[in-house]
Amino acid sequence: MNVIVKKSNLLDEKSDLLVVGRFADDRVGSAYSTVNERLDCLLDAAAKEDGFKAKLGSALIARTVGLIAARRVMVVGLGDRKSFSEESVRVAAAVSLNAAKSLGAKTIASALHGTGSRELEARTCAKAMAEGALLADYGFGRYRNEPAAKSPASFTILTTDGKKIRAAADGALIGERYARATMFARDLINTPGQHMTPADLVEAAKSIAKGKGSIRIKVYGREQLERMRAGGLLAVNQGSDHEPFLVHMVYRGLKMRKDLPGRQAGKKQKRVCLVGKGVTFDSGGLSIKPSNFMESMKSDMSGAAAVLGVFSVIDEIAPNAEVHGIFGAVENMPSGKAVRPGDVVTIMNGKTIEVLNTDAEGRVTLADTLTYAAKQKPDAIIDIATLTGACVVALGEEYSGLMSNNDALAAKVAEAAKTAGENVWRLPLPEEYKELIKSDVADYKNDAPRWGGSLTAGLLLQEFVAGIPWVHLDIAGPAFAEHPLNAYMKKGATGHGTRTLLEYLRNI
Ligand code: BES
Ligand code: MN
Ligand code: ZN
Repeated sequence: MNVIVKKSNLLDEKSDLLVVGRFADDRVGSAYSTVNERLDCLLDAAAKEDGFKAKLGSALIARTVGLIAARRVMVVGLGDRKSFSEESVRVAAAVSLNAAKSLGAKTIASALHGTGSRELEARTCAKAMAEGALLADYGFGRYRNEPAAKSPASFTILTTDGKKIRAAADGALIGERYARATMFARDLINTPGQHMTPADLVEAAKSIAKGKGSIRIKVYGREQLERMRAGGLLAVNQGSDHEPFLVHMVYRGLKMRKDLPGRQAGKKQKRVCLVGKGVTFDSGGLSIKPSNFMESMKSDMSGAAAVLGVFSVIDEIAPNAEVHGIFGAVENMPSGKAVRPGDVVTIMNGKTIEVLNTDAEGRVTLADTLTYAAKQKPDAIIDIATLTGACVVALGEEYSGLMSNNDALAAKVAEAAKTAGENVWRLPLPEEYKELIKSDVADYKNDAPRWGGSLTAGLLLQEFVAGIPWVHLDIAGPAFAEHPLNAYMKKGATGHGTRTLLEYLRNI
């Protein structure tokens, strides 16, 4: 589906579906009025008859019987003005797309929502529209014989104000990149463990780096991991028939592009490490999961997928930073060779962890990958991981937990998440709980009491970041949706975190 931005008076715009927004509070926007007047107040009449209140995401559809160029017109509810945000626009665009699909419309044209009285900048609004429409259009078709509903050919964003065209076109392009990155991650996550082995995840990374001169990639296999003494990654993968890997991608920021803000010759760029959990399937290992908990564990590489999503568009976003993408690709399986409860593993930095529960494997793999990241001497580390069921108990399925050793970095990432429309909530890393991860026989243990399970996992990770400013995102809840979350996030992989990371990098 193509996203197009165009100046238009709305009435002469040929399309299968023309969309105008309307706020729930009385004052109507200019797009609505323009179309309503030409249709002899048909929209007012239909709204009255159907009890249409313009609640966010609600819709009203009417035929235009030749009075305007579009075949049908749809009024989409934008909700109350006071709660109007970028997220409302994402939802409105997604609702339009979904309606168009079920009507079999091939072309959609939509007015730029809520920029009339400057509720939102044209750029922000167009970004959110492109993002909402493209994300809503996503489907995972790899294993289907019968294709799902056909995608429309085009989604055209219309503005009557020629002065807004440039900003809107700019915004739409950013939104399109954010959506593409997110869908790239969703595809990787939705692919079952059978076709998304550690080697497959490595291939995905290589294919990204291949077309881009600005990305370098290093891949370490089993022998190299042994030489590096990455005991955590090796132990978790020990029961698997697949080879484990550690992947390190580097994007060297463009230092002097004059068309991009904040670039100055000689000015030192920030170095940021994005670290993902890349367990391609988590059976639990010998501490095996009950089958209903195992069902969705192909999604245990969602953190790595988010990092790869970011790298899939990073040269187009061109952040003002040197960005490292690092993840271990392993599979957690039970077998005669598998790591046993009670085994002690040595991490790359020499610290030891007693593996009491082989299902708490994420922190064991991240101990190595975070150590590797810290060695790059970055200014900031952000890790993203489907780490604990406890986080889902604490915050539910739609919020990820944010833990950090640095308030300023935590605030920046939380702000980026808010803009991206991804829910995160900060959780503490209590000094008093450090006792809970001390082992009787090793430096640390990977299991802790059930209560506060996300915090003790976070505390263990903290031991491996060498004091560098760090944010940990536990995305166990929102990474994989068991039911549709909203108009643009259907069931299955969400790619949660991809857009937060992109937004953070774009504003660095
Ligand atoms: N990958 C899981 C966490 C998870 C749970 C992700 C639900 C997504 C949805 C992780 O490896 C795990 O199994 N954690 C255990 C830790 C426990 C054994 C200390 C958990 O949360 O049950
Ligand atoms: Mn596990
Ligand atoms: Zn796991």
